[in-house]
Amino acid sequence: MNTERLDDKVTVITGGGSGMGAAMAKEFAKRGAKVAIFDLNEEKSQKVVDEIQAFGGTASFYKTDVTVKAQIDENTCKVSEEYGRINSWINSAGFSKMAPFLDSSEELWDLTINVNLKATFLCCQAAVREMLGHGGTIINMSSLSGKKPSSWQTIYCASKYGVQGLSQSIAKEFADEGIRVNTICPGIVPTEMWEKLKYEYAKKRDLDPEEVLPYFKKNIPMHKLVDLKNVTDAAIFLTTDSSSYLTGQSINLVGGELME
Ligand SMILES: NC(=O)c1ccc[n+]([C@@H]2O[C@H](COP(=O)([O-])OP(=O)(O)OC[C@H]3O[C@@H](n4cnc5c(N)ncnc54)[C@H](O)[C@@H]3O)[C@@H](O)[C@H]2O)c1
Repeated sequence: MNTERLDDKVTVITGGGSGMGAAMAKEFAKRGAKVAIFDLNEEKSQKVVDEIQAFGGTASFYKTDVTVKAQIDENTCKVSEEYGRINSWINSAGFSKMAPFLDSSEELWDLTINVNLKATFLCCQAAVREMLGHGGTIINMSSLSGKKPSSWQTIYCASKYGVQGLSQSIAKEFADEGIRVNTICPGIVPTEMWEKLKYEYAKKRDLDPEEVLPYFKKNIPMHKLVDLKNVTDAAIFLTTDSSSYLTGQSINLVGGELME
């Protein structure tokens, strides 16, 4: 079992109010990190903060729309005032909606690209500015959809392929500054995101919504979906010195569905 500590590592987690972001926030805090959650959802994020504080961990919530540069910059300053230098940053805020290509609207393009790609760009700029001079780690949540095309997921795939190129280019530019940038590319993680997506996917494949996740399992070589511990383990690895020679890489959490 991985027992690595993250004592006093100041970590910003976008999308920390739900799903993988919430799981990483709790696990990082359990291991001694000071966690700052940037999310739009106040109620859910505050619940995560309360849970962390209840076990004696350190966390706070900064209401942030990560598509808005001024909010990111203002809250980044607040975090460094409150906790000192930022050591690690995880971009997990995300949005996904499936639609046939010809029904995909310009509004859906703007929303998906803004939340998944523009926000990652803006947050990486804020993170790199904070890390210059002392180094740090950035993890961007990409996806299997950032590596493998998928019909009805055109815009989402475009956004996540974009996250790959963005992350690798930043990794290259700042490698000799001690700033490492990597991505995690999960297959299906049954979070709240899939509570909606399963209805959309059911339509695409003419399935019952409850058949969707079992249908995916059948096609994964390991025959199981990603669980949150797989994600937190990967994030801890990419944040600690165990991965000190890795930058511009992805961890494909896909149970063997993609091998590269
Ligand atoms: N769930 C999956 O199967 C899966 C698979 C691969 C990759 N991903 C990616 O992993 C990341 C996390 O996914 P999840 O399943 O935990 O999602 P989730 O829907 O459970 O949580 C997403 C969080 O992002 C926040 N958010 C959305 N828009 C925001 C904005 N503009 N500003 C601030 N916060 C915002 C939401 O409030 C929410 O708390 C996403 O980037 C997603 O695309 C998910």
